[in-house]
Amino acid sequence: MKILAIETSCDETAAAVTEGRRVLSSSIYSQILIHKKWGGVVPSLAKRAHLERIDGVIDAALKGARLTWDDIDVSAVTVGPGLAIALEVGIDKAKELAKKYNKKLVAINHMEGHIMANYAQNSQGNPKRDMIFPALALLISGGHTELVLCHDNLEYEVLGETVDDAVGEALDKAGKMLGLGYPGGPAIERLAREAGNIDTYQFTRPMMRDPGFSFSYSGLKTALYYKLKELSEKEKKNNLRELASSFQEAAFHVLIVKTERAIRATGVKQLLVGGGVSANSYLRTKLRALGKKHGVEVLFPPQKYLCTDNAAMIGIAAHFRAQKGEYVDDLNKLERIPRLHLAQSVNALK
Ligand code: KG4
Ligand code: ZN
Repeated sequence: MKILAIETSCDETAAAVTEGRRVLSSSIYSQILIHKKWGGVVPSLAKRAHLERIDGVIDAALKGARLTWDDIDVSAVTVGPGLAIALEVGIDKAKELAKKYNKKLVAINHMEGHIMANYAQNSQGNPKRDMIFPALALLISGGHTELVLCHDNLEYEVLGETVDDAVGEALDKAGKMLGLGYPGGPAIERLAREAGNIDTYQFTRPMMRDPGFSFSYSGLKTALYYKLKELSEKEKKNNLRELASSFQEAAFHVLIVKTERAIRATGVKQLLVGGGVSANSYLRTKLRALGKKHGVEVLFPPQKYLCTDNAAMIGIAAHFRAQKGEYVDDLNKLERIPRLHLAQSVNALK
Protein backbone atom coordinates (compact mmCIF):
# COMPACT_ATOMS: atom_id res chain seq x y z
CA MET A 1 0.00 0.00 0.00
CA LYS A 2 1.56 3.25 -1.15
CA ILE A 3 0.83 6.28 1.02
CA LEU A 4 1.30 9.95 0.22
CA ALA A 5 1.76 11.82 3.50
CA ILE A 6 1.64 15.55 4.22
CA GLU A 7 3.07 17.37 7.27
CA THR A 8 2.72 21.10 8.00
CA SER A 9 2.39 21.27 11.80
CA CYS A 10 5.18 23.77 12.39
CA ASP A 11 7.89 25.25 10.17
CA GLU A 12 8.60 22.41 7.76
CA THR A 13 6.46 21.94 4.66
CA ALA A 14 6.83 18.23 3.97
CA ALA A 15 5.46 15.42 1.83
CA ALA A 16 6.60 11.82 1.41
CA VAL A 17 5.68 8.59 -0.29
CA THR A 18 5.93 5.50 1.90
CA GLU A 19 5.09 1.83 1.56
CA GLY A 20 4.82 -0.01 4.87
CA ARG A 21 7.88 1.15 6.79
CA ARG A 22 9.79 1.96 3.61
CA VAL A 23 10.37 5.56 2.63
CA LEU A 24 10.21 5.78 -1.17
CA SER A 25 10.70 9.55 -1.21
CA SER A 26 10.76 12.47 1.17
CA SER A 27 10.53 16.13 0.30
CA ILE A 28 11.02 18.84 2.93
CA TYR A 29 11.02 22.59 2.56
CA SER A 30 12.53 23.98 5.75
CA GLN A 31 11.38 27.49 6.67
CA ILE A 32 14.26 28.04 9.09
CA LEU A 33 15.68 30.94 7.07
CA ILE A 34 12.30 32.70 7.13
CA HIS A 35 11.93 32.44 10.92
CA LYS A 36 15.58 32.87 11.82
CA LYS A 37 15.53 36.65 11.95
CA TRP A 38 12.60 36.59 14.38
CA GLY A 39 14.36 34.15 16.72
CA GLY A 40 11.54 31.60 16.52
CA VAL A 41 8.62 30.41 14.46
CA VAL A 42 6.13 33.13 13.46
CA PRO A 43 2.79 31.34 12.79
CA SER A 44 1.49 33.75 10.12
CA LEU A 45 4.75 33.50 8.16
CA ALA A 46 4.71 29.71 8.54
CA LYS A 47 1.19 29.57 7.12
CA ARG A 48 2.13 31.73 4.13
CA ALA A 49 5.23 29.67 3.37
CA HIS A 50 3.26 26.41 3.65
CA LEU A 51 0.67 27.77 1.20
CA GLU A 52 3.39 28.81 -1.23
CA ARG A 53 5.33 25.57 -1.07
CA ILE A 54 2.89 22.76 -0.47
CA ASP A 55 2.08 21.93 -4.10
CA GLY A 56 5.74 21.91 -5.08
CA VAL A 57 6.69 19.73 -2.13
CA ILE A 58 3.96 17.17 -2.95
CA ASP A 59 5.01 17.09 -6.61
CA ALA A 60 8.62 16.60 -5.58
CA ALA A 61 7.65 13.66 -3.34
CA LEU A 62 5.74 11.97 -6.17
CA LYS A 63 8.55 12.62 -8.65
CA GLY A 64 11.15 11.39 -6.15
CA ALA A 65 9.28 8.08 -5.94
CA ARG A 66 8.70 8.09 -9.72
CA LEU A 67 4.97 7.75 -9.13
CA THR A 68 1.76 9.58 -9.97
CA TRP A 69 -1.47 9.87 -8.02
CA ASP A 70 -2.71 6.76 -9.88
CA ASP A 71 -0.12 4.71 -7.99
CA ILE A 72 -1.06 6.09 -4.57
CA ASP A 73 -3.48 4.00 -2.49
CA VAL A 74 -4.02 6.18 0.57
CA SER A 75 -3.19 9.71 1.69
CA ALA A 76 -2.26 10.82 5.19
CA VAL A 77 -1.96 14.13 6.99
CA THR A 78 -0.91 15.49 10.39
CA VAL A 79 -3.93 16.90 12.26
CA GLY A 80 -2.16 17.88 15.49
CA PRO A 81 -0.53 18.83 17.73
CA GLY A 82 0.95 21.95 16.21
CA LEU A 83 0.27 25.50 15.11
CA ALA A 84 -3.40 25.79 14.18
CA ILE A 85 -3.01 27.90 11.06
CA ALA A 86 -0.05 25.83 9.87
CA LEU A 87 -1.85 22.49 10.39
CA GLU A 88 -4.79 23.85 8.46
CA VAL A 89 -2.78 24.26 5.26
CA GLY A 90 -1.82 20.58 5.16
CA ILE A 91 -5.29 19.39 6.16
CA ASP A 92 -7.04 21.51 3.52
CA LYS A 93 -4.63 20.28 0.86
CA ALA A 94 -5.01 16.64 1.94
CA LYS A 95 -8.80 16.91 1.84
CA GLU A 96 -8.71 18.58 -1.57
CA LEU A 97 -6.44 15.90 -3.04
CA ALA A 98 -8.27 12.99 -1.37
CA LYS A 99 -11.49 14.22 -2.98
CA LYS A 100 -9.92 14.97 -6.36
CA TYR A 101 -8.18 11.60 -6.66
CA ASN A 102 -10.74 9.63 -4.69
CA LYS A 103 -8.34 8.35 -2.01
CA LYS A 104 -8.98 7.36 1.55
CA LEU A 105 -7.34 9.61 4.12
CA VAL A 106 -5.67 8.76 7.43
CA ALA A 107 -5.39 11.46 10.12
CA ILE A 108 -2.17 11.26 12.13
CA ASN A 109 -0.93 12.56 15.46
CA HIS A 110 2.42 14.31 14.83
CA MET A 111 3.92 12.78 18.00
CA GLU A 112 3.03 9.27 16.88
CA GLY A 113 4.96 10.17 13.75
CA HIS A 114 8.05 11.00 15.83
CA ILE A 115 7.75 7.59 17.53
CA MET A 116 7.32 5.75 14.21
CA ALA A 117 10.33 7.53 12.68
CA ASN A 118 12.40 4.95 14.58
CA TYR A 119 11.02 2.16 12.39
CA ALA A 120 11.65 3.92 9.08
CA GLN A 121 13.44 1.93 6.39
CA ASN A 122 14.99 2.82 3.07
CA SER A 123 13.52 1.52 -0.17
CA GLN A 124 15.50 -1.71 0.28
CA GLY A 125 13.86 -2.34 3.65
CA ASN A 126 16.83 -1.44 5.87
CA PRO A 127 17.46 -1.17 8.76
CA LYS A 128 15.44 -4.17 9.91
CA ARG A 129 14.46 -3.24 13.42
CA ASP A 130 12.09 -5.30 15.55
CA MET A 131 9.26 -3.62 17.35
CA ILE A 132 9.41 -4.78 20.98
CA PHE A 133 6.28 -3.82 22.89
CA PRO A 134 5.66 -2.27 25.26
CA ALA A 135 8.33 0.21 24.26
CA LEU A 136 9.28 3.43 25.99
CA ALA A 137 9.45 6.56 23.84
CA LEU A 138 11.35 9.69 24.77
CA LEU A 139 9.99 12.49 22.61
CA ILE A 140 12.09 15.61 22.64
CA SER A 141 11.32 18.43 20.25
CA GLY A 142 10.69 22.14 20.08
CA GLY A 143 7.13 21.68 21.29
CA HIS A 144 7.28 18.52 23.41
CA THR A 145 9.16 16.66 26.11
CA GLU A 146 7.37 13.42 26.88
CA LEU A 147 8.00 9.91 28.17
CA VAL A 148 5.47 7.60 26.60
CA LEU A 149 4.69 3.91 27.04
CA CYS A 150 3.78 2.50 23.62
CA HIS A 151 1.60 -0.61 23.40
CA ASP A 152 1.28 -3.00 20.47
CA ASN A 153 -2.29 -1.91 19.74
CA LEU A 154 -1.02 1.63 19.04
CA GLU A 155 -2.28 2.93 22.34
CA TYR A 156 -0.09 5.33 24.24
CA GLU A 157 0.27 6.15 27.92
CA VAL A 158 1.98 9.44 28.57
CA LEU A 159 3.99 8.77 31.75
CA GLY A 160 5.20 12.33 32.06
CA GLU A 161 5.65 15.51 30.11
CA THR A 162 6.92 19.02 30.58
CA VAL A 163 4.90 21.32 32.78
CA ASP A 164 6.19 24.40 30.94
CA ASP A 165 8.81 24.72 28.17
CA ALA A 166 9.91 21.82 26.00
CA VAL A 167 13.60 20.89 26.01
CA GLY A 168 14.05 22.03 22.37
CA GLU A 169 12.30 25.28 23.18
CA ALA A 170 14.65 25.79 26.14
CA LEU A 171 17.66 25.15 23.90
CA ASP A 172 16.26 27.60 21.35
CA LYS A 173 15.70 30.27 24.00
CA ALA A 174 19.18 29.71 25.43
CA GLY A 175 20.60 29.94 21.92
CA LYS A 176 18.90 33.28 21.50
CA MET A 177 20.22 34.58 24.85
CA LEU A 178 23.71 33.46 23.89
CA GLY A 179 23.40 35.22 20.53
CA LEU A 180 23.61 31.96 18.56
CA GLY A 181 20.49 32.45 16.44
CA TYR A 182 17.69 30.01 15.67
CA PRO A 183 17.47 27.07 16.12
CA GLY A 184 19.55 26.99 19.28
CA GLY A 185 19.87 23.21 19.72
CA PRO A 186 22.38 22.45 16.97
CA ALA A 187 24.37 25.65 17.66
CA ILE A 188 24.64 24.81 21.37
CA GLU A 189 25.70 21.26 20.53
CA ARG A 190 28.51 22.54 18.29
CA LEU A 191 29.79 25.06 20.84
CA ALA A 192 29.52 22.66 23.76
CA ARG A 193 31.86 20.23 22.01
CA GLU A 194 34.65 22.78 22.40
CA ALA A 195 34.06 23.58 26.07
CA GLY A 196 36.99 23.16 28.45
CA ASN A 197 34.93 22.15 31.45
CA ILE A 198 31.57 20.75 30.34
CA ASP A 199 29.71 21.79 33.48
CA THR A 200 31.40 24.99 34.67
CA TYR A 201 28.19 26.69 35.80
CA GLN A 202 26.31 23.69 37.25
CA PHE A 203 22.85 25.10 36.59
CA THR A 204 20.16 23.63 38.83
CA ARG A 205 18.49 20.55 37.40
CA PRO A 206 14.76 21.24 37.38
CA MET A 207 12.25 18.63 38.67
CA MET A 208 15.01 16.29 39.83
CA ARG A 209 13.49 15.85 43.25
CA ASP A 210 10.02 15.36 41.82
CA PRO A 211 9.39 11.61 42.09
CA GLY A 212 7.46 11.30 38.82
CA PHE A 213 8.30 11.61 35.15
CA SER A 214 7.49 15.29 34.65
CA PHE A 215 9.90 17.83 33.24
CA SER A 216 10.25 21.57 33.65
CA TYR A 217 12.56 23.77 31.65
CA SER A 218 11.53 27.35 32.31
CA GLY A 219 13.60 27.58 35.53
CA LEU A 220 16.72 26.53 33.69
CA LYS A 221 16.16 29.27 31.15
CA THR A 222 15.80 31.77 34.01
CA ALA A 223 19.01 30.48 35.63
CA LEU A 224 20.89 31.18 32.40
CA TYR A 225 19.30 34.60 32.15
CA TYR A 226 20.55 35.60 35.64
CA LYS A 227 23.97 34.10 35.05
CA LEU A 228 24.31 36.19 31.88
CA LYS A 229 23.25 39.31 33.78
CA GLU A 230 25.96 38.62 36.34
CA LEU A 231 28.75 38.27 33.77
CA SER A 232 30.47 41.12 31.93
CA GLU A 233 30.38 41.15 28.12
CA LYS A 234 33.98 40.01 28.06
CA GLU A 235 33.32 37.15 30.48
CA LYS A 236 30.34 36.07 28.40
CA LYS A 237 32.38 36.08 25.23
CA ASN A 238 35.26 34.18 26.77
CA ASN A 239 32.98 31.58 28.33
CA LEU A 240 30.42 31.12 25.59
CA ARG A 241 31.36 27.46 25.08
CA GLU A 242 31.17 26.73 28.80
CA LEU A 243 27.81 28.53 29.09
CA ALA A 244 26.39 26.53 26.17
CA SER A 245 27.80 23.29 27.50
CA SER A 246 26.61 23.82 31.09
CA PHE A 247 23.12 24.58 29.82
CA GLN A 248 23.11 21.46 27.67
CA GLU A 249 24.43 19.36 30.58
CA ALA A 250 21.62 20.47 32.88
CA ALA A 251 18.96 20.04 30.19
CA PHE A 252 20.12 16.53 29.25
CA HIS A 253 20.88 15.35 32.78
CA VAL A 254 17.18 15.58 33.64
CA LEU A 255 16.24 13.69 30.48
CA ILE A 256 18.62 10.87 31.41
CA VAL A 257 17.50 10.63 35.04
CA LYS A 258 13.79 10.57 34.19
CA THR A 259 14.28 8.13 31.32
CA GLU A 260 16.22 5.81 33.61
CA ARG A 261 13.43 6.03 36.16
CA ALA A 262 10.87 5.14 33.48
CA ILE A 263 12.96 2.18 32.25
CA ARG A 264 13.09 0.86 35.82
CA ALA A 265 9.38 1.40 36.40
CA THR A 266 8.20 -0.20 33.16
CA GLY A 267 10.77 -2.93 32.49
CA VAL A 268 10.78 -2.13 28.76
CA LYS A 269 13.38 -3.67 26.46
CA GLN A 270 13.32 -0.94 23.81
CA LEU A 271 13.69 2.83 24.00
CA LEU A 272 12.57 4.88 21.00
CA VAL A 273 13.92 8.41 20.85
CA GLY A 274 12.32 10.97 18.57
CA GLY A 275 11.93 14.67 17.84
CA GLY A 276 14.46 17.29 16.77
CA VAL A 277 16.61 17.10 19.92
CA SER A 278 17.25 13.38 19.23
CA ALA A 279 19.57 14.56 16.44
CA ASN A 280 22.05 15.59 19.18
CA SER A 281 25.08 13.25 19.05
CA TYR A 282 26.15 13.96 22.62
CA LEU A 283 22.71 13.06 23.95
CA ARG A 284 22.74 9.93 21.81
CA THR A 285 25.96 8.78 23.45
CA LYS A 286 24.47 9.31 26.90
CA LEU A 287 21.25 7.47 26.03
CA ARG A 288 23.14 4.56 24.48
CA ALA A 289 25.16 4.20 27.69
CA LEU A 290 21.94 4.23 29.68
CA GLY A 291 20.50 1.51 27.45
CA LYS A 292 23.60 -0.62 27.87
CA LYS A 293 23.40 -0.32 31.64
CA HIS A 294 19.83 -1.64 31.65
CA GLY A 295 19.93 -4.09 28.74
CA VAL A 296 17.60 -1.88 26.74
CA GLU A 297 17.93 -1.45 22.99
CA VAL A 298 18.07 2.26 22.23
CA LEU A 299 16.82 3.36 18.82
CA PHE A 300 17.10 6.71 17.09
CA PRO A 301 15.55 7.59 13.76
CA PRO A 302 17.91 5.97 11.21
CA GLN A 303 18.61 9.27 9.43
CA LYS A 304 18.99 12.78 10.82
CA TYR A 305 16.13 14.19 8.69
CA LEU A 306 13.82 11.70 10.40
CA CYS A 307 14.56 13.30 13.80
CA THR A 308 13.19 16.72 12.90
CA ASP A 309 9.81 17.27 11.26
CA ASN A 310 9.19 15.29 8.08
CA ALA A 311 6.30 13.57 6.34
CA ALA A 312 7.89 10.11 6.03
CA MET A 313 7.20 9.49 9.72
CA ILE A 314 3.56 10.47 9.13
CA GLY A 315 3.32 7.98 6.27
CA ILE A 316 4.73 5.16 8.43
CA ALA A 317 2.30 5.93 11.25
CA ALA A 318 -0.50 6.00 8.66
CA HIS A 319 0.49 2.52 7.46
CA PHE A 320 -0.10 1.09 10.94
CA ARG A 321 -3.35 3.05 11.35
CA ALA A 322 -4.60 1.96 7.92
CA GLN A 323 -3.89 -1.67 8.83
CA LYS A 324 -6.43 -1.18 11.60
CA GLY A 325 -8.90 0.36 9.18
CA GLU A 326 -8.69 3.78 10.80
CA TYR A 327 -9.62 6.03 7.90
CA VAL A 328 -11.32 9.40 8.11
CA ASP A 329 -15.07 8.74 7.73
CA ASP A 330 -16.15 12.16 6.58
CA LEU A 331 -13.57 14.42 4.97
CA ASN A 332 -15.74 17.47 5.52
CA LYS A 333 -15.68 16.97 9.28
CA LEU A 334 -11.92 16.58 9.62
CA GLU A 335 -10.39 19.50 11.48
CA ARG A 336 -7.08 20.52 12.95
CA ILE A 337 -6.52 19.59 16.62
CA PRO A 338 -3.71 21.94 17.78
CA ARG A 339 -3.56 20.45 21.28
CA LEU A 340 -4.02 16.82 20.32
CA HIS A 341 -2.62 14.55 23.04
CA LEU A 342 -1.00 11.18 22.39
CA ALA A 343 -3.28 9.41 24.82
CA GLN A 344 -6.37 10.82 23.08
CA SER A 345 -8.53 8.22 21.41
CA VAL A 346 -7.97 7.83 17.69
CA ASN A 347 -11.70 8.26 17.28
CA ALA A 348 -11.00 11.94 17.76
CA LEU A 349 -9.21 11.78 14.43
CA LYS A 350 -12.12 10.45 12.40
O1 KG4 B 1 10.89 17.95 15.94
P1 KG4 B 1 11.27 19.33 15.52
O2 KG4 B 1 11.85 19.51 14.14
O3 KG4 B 1 10.05 20.31 15.57
C1 KG4 B 1 9.08 20.26 16.56
O4 KG4 B 1 8.13 19.45 16.39
O5 KG4 B 1 9.25 21.02 17.53
O6 KG4 B 1 12.28 19.86 16.63
C2 KG4 B 1 12.89 21.12 16.56
C3 KG4 B 1 13.77 21.29 17.79
C4 KG4 B 1 14.33 22.69 17.95
O7 KG4 B 1 14.08 23.12 19.27
C5 KG4 B 1 15.83 22.50 17.72
O8 KG4 B 1 16.64 23.39 18.47
C6 KG4 B 1 16.03 21.08 18.17
O9 KG4 B 1 14.88 20.40 17.73
N1 KG4 B 1 17.23 20.46 17.58
C7 KG4 B 1 18.31 20.09 18.30
C8 KG4 B 1 19.26 19.59 17.39
N2 KG4 B 1 18.71 19.66 16.13
C9 KG4 B 1 17.47 20.20 16.27
N3 KG4 B 1 18.56 20.15 19.62
C10 KG4 B 1 19.75 19.72 20.05
N4 KG4 B 1 20.71 19.23 19.24
C11 KG4 B 1 20.52 19.15 17.91
N5 KG4 B 1 21.48 18.66 17.12
ZN1 ZN C 1 8.00 17.59 15.55
